[in-house]
Amino acid sequence: MKIDTIDLGPRPVLLAPMEDVTDPAFRLMCKRFGADMVYTEFVSSDALVRAIDKTRRKLEICDEERPVAIQIYGKDVDAMTQAARIVEEARPDMLDINFGCPVKKIAGKGAGAGMLQDIPKMLEITRSVVDAVKIPVTVKTRLGWDDNSKIIVDLAEQLQDCGIAALTIHGRTRAQLYTGEADWTLIGRVKDNPRMRIPIIGNGDIADPQRAGECFDRYGVDAIMIGRGSIGRPWIFKEVKHYLETGEQLAPLSFGRRLDVLRQEVADSVARLDERRGIIHIRRHLAATPLFKGIPNFRDTRIAMLRAESVEELFRIFDNIYLASETALPGSSSF
Ligand SMILES: Cc1cc2nc3c(=O)[nH]c(=O)nc-3n(C[C@H](O)[C@H](O)[C@H](O)COP(=O)(O)O)c2cc1C
Repeated sequence: MKIDTIDLGPRPVLLAPMEDVTDPAFRLMCKRFGADMVYTEFVSSDALVRAIDKTRRKLEICDEERPVAIQIYGKDVDAMTQAARIVEEARPDMLDINFGCPVKKIAGKGAGAGMLQDIPKMLEITRSVVDAVKIPVTVKTRLGWDDNSKIIVDLAEQLQDCGIAALTIHGRTRAQLYTGEADWTLIGRVKDNPRMRIPIIGNGDIADPQRAGECFDRYGVDAIMIGRGSIGRPWIFKEVKHYLETGEQLAPLSFGRRLDVLRQEVADSVARLDERRGIIHIRRHLAATPLFKGIPNFRDTRIAMLRAESVEELFRIFDNIYLASETALPGSSSF
């Protein structure tokens, strides 16, 4: 599958943009496990234009993670256009526009999914950004604002007419936030529209290899994108890719290997921030990981793990978990 001239191979599996999650280290980790393309977290166009240091740093990418898309959001045509030019200087492979963020502080101000209530403006921004840069521009959005306005089938065509190179659809409305289930039938309807030429990337609730296969087979999407399913579990890309390629489940990586992946995530996070902030940052991954499921009486250890304040303390807890796993999960801790 190609987006513009960028070949992502057959049935690509992409890492979703996630604020405060898809930092450079996590993107690289997912890439090494097989993600075919990765996205930065969304970057505020207003802050980019104002040259806020912290925001500019979000544009840092490395060659090893390519192809990589930088995502921007905003509600102002000029700021979005200027931000697109700034992004292009950072040399990503693509620029993605966020018209899907549902949180109040973004959508409530008309940016992100808020743009689903002002389609003319959404199209104006898209056209202007496409015109402003030479790299391919893609859009990520939702089915519509709410149940009464699931406009994605028409909207997809309108966005295509603005010149975007691919469209990602998260199968929820803004009103749903992250509740209920992603509705893939409408994503399938966009794919069924004979007027659509650009690749459609389906997104929402893919958390295992079988579901990934179903999304390709039932809904005909050109690529899939995984978000929450990768937090605390970047090896999901290896599992999904293997299943898509062979139709077989990959034997799980050993417990020890997966624990080492989490250790690496901790180390990366601490190296990027500092010990205190790095540990706070990585707690979300540790809280979300499915790795510790099935370990009996894990509750106290989990609390200790999520409260640990130094790498030494955290790694000591990991060592104890590993030792406990040898008895609790027989055969699972061999490297
Ligand atoms: C913590 C978190 C942060 C997110 N940040 C972004 C973001 O910056 N840009 C974006 O387009 N979507 C963002 N999303 C939405 C995801 O990209 C994705 O569309 C959504 O989680 C549904 O996919 P999933 O079910 O695979 O997680 C975020 C989601 C989560 C859970």
